[in-house]
Amino acid sequence: MLLKNSALLSGALLASSAVAQFPPKPEDVKTVKSKFHQGIEISYKEVDPAVCETTEGVRSFSGYVHLPPHSINETHERQDYPINTFFWFFESRKDPHKAPLSIWLNGGPGGSSMMGALSENGPCFVNSDSNSTHLNPWSWNNEVNILYIDQPNQVGYSYDVLTNITVNLLADNEGPDAIKLGDFSEGVPDQNATFLVGTSSSQNISATANSTQHAAVAFWHFAQTWFEEFPQYKPHDEKISLFTESYGGRYGPTFVKKFMTQNELIANGSISGPGTHYLHLDTLGLINGCIDAEDAASAYVEFPIANTYGIQGFTEEQYFKAKYEYIRKDGLRDQIRECRRLQLETDPNDYGDVENTNAYCYKAAENLGNLTIAAYVESQKFGWFDITHQGTDPFPSTYLMGYLNQQWVQQALGVPVNFTAVSPAVYEAFTHTGDISKGGLLEDLAYILDNGVKVAMMYGDRDYACNWLGGEQSSLHIPWSNASSFASAGYTPLVLSPFSSGGLVRQFGNLSFTRVYQAGHLVPSYQPQAAYEIFMRSLFNRDVATGEIAVSADYGTEGREDGWTPSDVLPKPENECYVLNPGSCSQEEQAWLKDGTAIVKNWILVGREKGGKRGGRGHGEQGSQTVLAEEGMYEL
Ligand SMILES: *[C@@H]1O[C@H](CO)[C@@H](O)[C@H](O)[C@H]1NC(C)=O
Ligand SMILES: *[C@@H]1O[C@H](CO)[C@@H](O)[C@H](O)[C@H]1NC(C)=O
Ligand SMILES: *[C@@H]1O[C@H](CO)[C@@H](O)[C@H](O)[C@H]1NC(C)=O
Ligand SMILES: *[C@@H]1O[C@H](CO)[C@@H](O)[C@H](O)[C@H]1NC(C)=O
Ligand SMILES: *[C@@H]1O[C@H](CO)[C@@H](O)[C@H](O)[C@H]1NC(C)=O
Ligand SMILES: *[C@@H]1O[C@H](CO)[C@@H](O)[C@H](O)[C@H]1NC(C)=O
Ligand SMILES: *[C@@H]1O[C@H](CO)[C@@H](O)[C@H](O)[C@H]1NC(C)=O
Ligand SMILES: *[C@@H]1O[C@H](CO)[C@@H](O)[C@H](O)[C@H]1NC(C)=O
Ligand SMILES: *[C@@H]1O[C@H](CO)[C@@H](O)[C@H](O)[C@H]1NC(C)=O
Ligand SMILES: *[C@@H]1O[C@H](CO)[C@@H](O)[C@H](O)[C@H]1NC(C)=O
Ligand SMILES: *[C@@H]1O[C@H](CO)[C@@H](O)[C@H](O)[C@H]1NC(C)=O
Repeated sequence: MLLKNSALLSGALLASSAVAQFPPKPEDVKTVKSKFHQGIEISYKEVDPAVCETTEGVRSFSGYVHLPPHSINETHERQDYPINTFFWFFESRKDPHKAPLSIWLNGGPGGSSMMGALSENGPCFVNSDSNSTHLNPWSWNNEVNILYIDQPNQVGYSYDVLTNITVNLLADNEGPDAIKLGDFSEGVPDQNATFLVGTSSSQNISATANSTQHAAVAFWHFAQTWFEEFPQYKPHDEKISLFTESYGGRYGPTFVKKFMTQNELIANGSISGPGTHYLHLDTLGLINGCIDAEDAASAYVEFPIANTYGIQGFTEEQYFKAKYEYIRKDGLRDQIRECRRLQLETDPNDYGDVENTNAYCYKAAENLGNLTIAAYVESQKFGWFDITHQGTDPFPSTYLMGYLNQQWVQQALGVPVNFTAVSPAVYEAFTHTGDISKGGLLEDLAYILDNGVKVAMMYGDRDYACNWLGGEQSSLHIPWSNASSFASAGYTPLVLSPFSSGGLVRQFGNLSFTRVYQAGHLVPSYQPQAAYEIFMRSLFNRDVATGEIAVSADYGTEGREDGWTPSDVLPKPENECYVLNPGSCSQEEQAWLKDGTAIVKNWILVGREKGGKRGGRGHGEQGSQTVLAEEGMYEL
């Protein structure tokens, strides 16, 4: 709690404010000990209906699956740390006991799935006070049970060992420099608008999965316990689907394949024993997924000049430079290919433990960033998730960061830990194995499709980060048995109503690819109905284009050969500096935050103190000292 005028307060108040800096001890939590595995537990509570899912009678549960060290003891796994994986389960608003279950995972690596729950496709959105919510009519739990999971370990509310920290939001480099382990034996430092204290995971990069493959193993173990033993989940429909976004382009194919191969081992008796659970995955959804590094890389070069908005994200010179670096001999494309050759030769099972291969793949990714992406990002003119927005893009809002660090919300969810939107430790762990450059995902998708699992890809056409040009290439490069039938299917409108189309769909049998109009990276935030219809239609075996046809093995769309139709550039949103998300603040605003003249309300920069020249921005009197005195006591 920041109290600028703390001298005015009584000692008693100060004492209680020191406690308020840390998440409260969880209360009213039920604990279930695993019947099958010693030491494994699920702890959870029913979430107060005032939090997020306020629809009458619809219940939600949050909690953890606790895996003590060495619960994952397959060869090539080294789990000498506890894994406490956070989940938030929302019952379907309709008939939860008959509804199927869908799992949602955000990407990163290191990104929390609470982003999905509270700003994309979940039951609610957080308001600008970062302390209240409103319902989402297009929530994916309208007719489906949804399970949001923070993975791998240390992401979001998931943790290994509780550890006190300080966070400097203005650290020059995001990541490790921003978070420091805090020793508070000499007293807890005061918080201010850009300096926080709290409790997090250990931040130890060795205490989490360091690659998509290792994350898949941990995820399977989580699922074995949750699906077998979470008492509140008693489905009528055994089918599970997985929808995932961004880095989920790697998580999704790998995790589904992992479940399927584990199922085979269960079916033929290679793994058995009490509590071993066959998990039937039915649909995989990929939302602006970065699936294949080569497809994504060529799209990083092309999209800035070849988007449907007619926007020039590169100067001509930048484009030719990037293109040259990409195609030249030993250039970026060759480096990705060489990484994959090394991977196949030295680490075919992708254990991530061959140092030279990791280092080569890591360097390939860094070069790609430096020689293509950097020019787009550094101009600050274009949003990473939306080429039509500015670099400090305020949409979708990140008010959930404040909301999830409100003490009463932490209490309601029963979490002993602060919320981390993107875990720097996880990001770094994955970086060191060069995970993003490595291959095998297209082959995994082929395996999945050829074994009867549906794959629905949806890509917002304003995104740069994992843009639709790369996604479309990947959809065409999946080496499944019906690849050529898919490629010759045409693009047809995504029908949302008799008068409106939300995009263009290509589908053959169980594979669909949809370009969603006027959407950035987090598609459901921009186009809630389009995303919802794609989700529902693919889940319930209807054609994605209209939802009116039951999909048969030889169903195919007809229409345009390419998905290219021009789009209008809509007005940009107004800048809003949300302090917990420093990327939303301009350099100037960051300078005011640094010199202490910024006036911040509910983590939003609303103006600058008098003498600092600039006043409020349409919020009335904020330029003055008076307002600061009032605002100086709000809780951080
Ligand atoms: C942790 O949560 C507390 C509220 O329980 C809050 O005061 C504090 O600022 C949070 N710290 C961080 C680092 O988010
Ligand atoms: C580790 O695996 C072995 C079999 O490979 C099993 O007997 C043992 O119970 C496992 N340990 C734990 C902690 O699950
Ligand atoms: C980080 O975690 C690893 C694995 O649990 C452990 O061996 C190591 O000692 C930890 N490092 C620190 C600094 O705690
Ligand atoms: C935040 O919301 C909680 C729960 O509704 C409420 O008790 C509290 O007073 C609110 N805080 C502020 C500063 O409005
Ligand atoms: C964090 O620091 C506070 C204040 O010193 C202390 O009460 C709490 O036990 C610490 N938590 C952890 C996980 O070390
Ligand atoms: C079970 O299936 C796996 C994967 O298909 C295979 O590698 C293994 O040899 C099979 N084991 C038995 C006992 O059939
Ligand atoms: C990644 O994790 C695996 C298993 O936990 C370990 O064997 C491997 O050495 C790790 N790789 C790096 C680069 O730390
Ligand atoms: C990429 O750029 C960063 C920042 O300029 C630099 O530190 C790094 O060494 C570069 N990486 C490579 C592989 O050249
Ligand atoms: C491929 O398409 C044919 C019809 O052309 C169908 O019979 C077959 O089941 C399809 N296979 C897959 C994996 O979709
Ligand atoms: C397509 O998906 C459906 C529903 O999951 C499944 O029943 C069917 O076997 C799949 N089709 C093919 C050709 O694999
Ligand atoms: C906030 O607190 C940190 C740590 O004490 C300090 O370095 C920084 O200058 C403070 N910021 C302002 C604006 O006072």
